[in-house]
Amino acid sequence: MHRIYMHPLPVRVWHWSNAVICVMLCLTGIQIRYVGLINLMPFRMVVAAHNWLGFLLIANTFIWLLFYLSSDRIRTYHSELNPIKLFRESVRQFVYYGYGIFKEAPNPFVASIYRKFNPPQSMTYQLIMLILLPIQCVTGILLWDLTRYARAVAFFGGVRVVDTVHVLIFIVFVFYIPFHAYLGTLGRTPMEHFKAMFTGYEESDEGESTDKAE
Ligand code: HEM
Repeated sequence: MHRIYMHPLPVRVWHWSNAVICVMLCLTGIQIRYVGLINLMPFRMVVAAHNWLGFLLIANTFIWLLFYLSSDRIRTYHSELNPIKLFRESVRQFVYYGYGIFKEAPNPFVASIYRKFNPPQSMTYQLIMLILLPIQCVTGILLWDLTRYARAVAFFGGVRVVDTVHVLIFIVFVFYIPFHAYLGTLGRTPMEHFKAMFTGYEESDEGESTDKAE
C-alpha cells in the first residue's frame, strides 16, 4: 500500500472553506429568493450576509487559482484531447458507477498526483471552476450594486437576464453539492476521499509513495 500526497495544503484550505461558504451562500440565497421557505435571520441581514459570503468566495477562489497557476499540479486539470479515448474512458467510468460498483468490480480509474480525476470528474470540475463559478461571481457583483454597474447589466441584457443566470447557476449548485459529496463516498471506504481531503494523502495499491516535498 502506498501513500500519495494528492491534495496540497492550499487546495485543502481552499476546498473546505469553499464548501462551507457555498453551503451558506445556498442557504442565504434560498431565503432571499424563496421568501418564507426558510428563515435564518431578518431579511436585510440575510442580504448583507449573502453579499459578504459572495466576496469571501471570490477571495477564496484566488487561493485555488494562484496555487494551480504557480504549480505543475495544474496538469491534473489538463483535458484529454483525444475524443475517442475521452469517450471510451467516460463510458467505462459511467458503467462502473451504474453497474460495476454494485458488483464490487475495481474502479477502472487509478488516480495519481498529476491525474487525480477520472474523465467525467475532470470535465465536471472544469465546468464548475472555470465556467459556472466565475459567471456566478460576476453576476453576483453586478446584482450587488445595480446602479454602479448599470451599463454592464444593460450590456448583458438587463437585470432579468443577469438575475436569471445567477439563479439558474445557484440551482445547479444546490444539486451539485450533495451529488458531489455522494461521489466523494465512493472510495474503497466511504470516508477514504474525505480523509484525503483533510490529510492530503490518498492510499493506493499502485504507483510509488510520494511525500509533501514532491
Ligand atoms: C459539503 C460539501 C462538499 C463536500 C463534502 C466535498 C467533498 C469533496 C471530496 C471528498 C473531494 C476529494 C475527492 C475528489 O477529488 O473528488 C473533493 C474535491 C473537490 N471538490 Fe468538493 N466537496 C464539497 C463542496 C464542494 C463545492 C461547493 C465545490 C465547488 C463549488 C467543490 C469542488 C471540488 C473540486 C474542484 C475538487 C477537486 C479539488 C482539487 O483537487 O483541485 N466541492 N470534494
